[in-house]
Amino acid sequence: MIWEGKKAPTLEGRHFIDALDFSPAEYDALFSLAERIKSAPAEFSSACSGKVMATLFYEPSTRTRLSFEAAMLRLGGKVLTVADPRTSSVAKGESLADTIRTVGNYADLIVLRHPKEGAAKLAALYSPVPLINGGDGAREHPTQTLTDLFTIVTYKGRLENITVAFCGDLRYGRTVHSLIKALARYPGTRFILISPEELRLPDHVKEEVLALRKDVEFHETTRMEEGLEGADVLYMTRIQKERFFNEEDYLKLRDAYVLTSEKLKLAEEDLIVMHPLPRVTEISYEVDEDKRAVYFQQARLGMFVRMALIARLLGVA
Ligand code: NCD
Repeated sequence: MIWEGKKAPTLEGRHFIDALDFSPAEYDALFSLAERIKSAPAEFSSACSGKVMATLFYEPSTRTRLSFEAAMLRLGGKVLTVADPRTSSVAKGESLADTIRTVGNYADLIVLRHPKEGAAKLAALYSPVPLINGGDGAREHPTQTLTDLFTIVTYKGRLENITVAFCGDLRYGRTVHSLIKALARYPGTRFILISPEELRLPDHVKEEVLALRKDVEFHETTRMEEGLEGADVLYMTRIQKERFFNEEDYLKLRDAYVLTSEKLKLAEEDLIVMHPLPRVTEISYEVDEDKRAVYFQQARLGMFVRMALIARLLGVA
């Protein structure tokens, strides 16, 4: 770990809105803590006793919300949740700023998922407690990045000199936008971008990546087969139906890529296949049996790294 021997950076009291809000050293410190929690969970089972976390989810979610809630409960803390905006004061016309100011009186930490890009940044301006972005529209999803990097470190043992192939909806996939920026900070990362023309990685994301590292390599293709060769990580994504303006356009692209056992024959033996989940049609079920498929373990690692994040933002570990 980069910071070993030095004092671990402090995250106490901070917000986590964009993947780049934390430095690589801060990520490293979180991974070390997540690793310790994973190997000795009992030692952390009352780290957050007396603390309360609120999850405000204004967009559908299973994994992210439950993984945060499981993380807090396993740290001995308590959870308040709004999973359906129709049952909250948002339905009465309350502004996000007012909701956040109010919930900040009840909770020590807030996790927000919102369909509008930039909502988390706005909310953070009004939040008296640390606020975590659980996904804001098609923009960012930084705790999925924590999960993804922790998975890559766990399986590959490094974040430098790796080739990552992203496949699917690179235009609307917020997990891709956050992860690609975070990865670009490590030397020697190469990106293979596999998508239909309509769903290419937005230029503004590419520009941000290039601003971080001028020499970063992008190889863009529409063919999955071409992208599989030489990749260390294959990051599959769902076509983001909810971001399309009409059903017809979605249906045209939904089955653009389907990873099958046959296609995986083209890939390296030590490739790992990741997916933020939920999966729809892009990975056929037979692939689950392949030892290279790590997406369910990825979801498990996400809980441990969220435990580490909560503990650090609350200053209890
Ligand atoms: C992702 C999301 O919400 O952006 N899911 C998740 O948080 N694990 C990916 C997706 O919905 O496709």
